[in-house]
Order: sequence, then structure tokens, then C-alpha cells
Amino acid sequence: MAAEKKTDQGKRRLDQDVERVLIDEASLQARIVEMGAEITAEYADRDLLLVAVLKGSVLFLADLMRRIAIPHEIDFMATSSYGTGVTSSGVVRILKDLNNPIEGRHVLIVEDIIDSGNTLAYLMGLLEARNPASLQIVTLLDKPDRREVDIHVAWTGFSIPNEFVIGYGLDYNERYRNLPYIGILKPSVYAELDAGYATE
Ligand code: PRP
Repeated sequence: MAAEKKTDQGKRRLDQDVERVLIDEASLQARIVEMGAEITAEYADRDLLLVAVLKGSVLFLADLMRRIAIPHEIDFMATSSYGTGVTSSGVVRILKDLNNPIEGRHVLIVEDIIDSGNTLAYLMGLLEARNPASLQIVTLLDKPDRREVDIHVAWTGFSIPNEFVIGYGLDYNERYRNLPYIGILKPSVYAELDAGYATE
């Protein structure tokens, strides 16, 4: 009982940091059902491998794969940019590579959000060189205004404006990933955390 109460309080605190909900839980789930059906049809006769890019995509992957009605496998990659300037250079560091080869496999990369496009451009090049039978992208969110490099995206859940979004896998300072919706963080939260760092 006490543990339940503590969890509830934690949830309320997260909600209080949200300026507004951009995409609510029902809308997210409805769109994921649609995309799952389309992916099911597209890969009906193919050996599908979903490659999720950690960490932001974990909630999307978990819901999407339950809406894909054909047998498939999953694997994971983890990437990181080299510091703050790297988004413009497009250089991406691989923190975790795939567990298995993808030669001859039909690979679908699962992302939570495309911003500059640099992460996916780099990953596409890396994975293409391993000779998959096909290589496509599904992303839950896209910020087209921020794009720096051209990439072809087969499925996009939602195109969104250039706002700092959190929730449903997306973080600010590693928090807020567990919100079940996509929200916009209150600017006061950034200010508070930035001030905290400045004094550390
Ligand atoms: C986010 C997102 C993409 C990348 C998109 O990951 O999941 O991988 O940034 O940005 P880009 O299009 O400008 O390259 P992030 O580095 O925040 O890591 P996380 O998923 O672990 O939070």
C-alpha cells in the first residue's frame, strides 16, 4: 500500500513538469495500430528484423511489435553523438552494435524521433554496408524543420513542430521517459536544472 502511494506521487511530480500534452496516449496507440498493420502487410512474405535504436525507442518498439502480426525478430543498437558539436558533423559513436549479422535480412530500423537526421544517416550507411536484403526506417516522431541531411523514412507516426518533447521514451536529462504521452516540458524545469549544474 505504501509502495503504491509512493509511485503515485512520483507520477504526479512528472506530470507537473509538463507544459502541455502534444500527443495523448490514445492518439499514439491509434497511430501505432495503423503503422503496425501497414508494416504487417509490407513484410508479409519477408523475414523481418526490427532494429531499435536505444534508448528512446524502447516504448515505441514494445507497442509497435505487438501490432505487427507476422513473426519477426528484434535487435538493438545504441549510439551517441560526440559532444554538442557533433550533430552538425554527423559523426556518431556506436555504444552497442547488433548482436547478429544482417546480411540477407529485411531490416526495419525503429526510432523514436528524427531531428537533424544525422544519427539515422550514419546508421543507414553502416548497416547498408552489411548487405541486408532491404533497409527501411520507421519513426514515431519527425521534426522536419530541423533536418540537416536527407533520409528516406518509410513510416512516420507524427510530424511535429520544433519543440522540446519528452515522454513515451523521450527524455530530458534521462528523465520523463516513462510518461505514457508526448509532452512539452515547462521551461522552468530547464532553468532549474541548468542552475543546479552551474552550482555543482
Ligand atoms: C535521439 C533519437 C535519435 C537521435 C535523433 O537519441 O533517439 O537517435 O537523437 O537526433 P538526430 O536526428 O539529430 O541525429 P538521443 O541521442 O537523445 O539518445 P536516447 O534515445 O538514448 O535518449
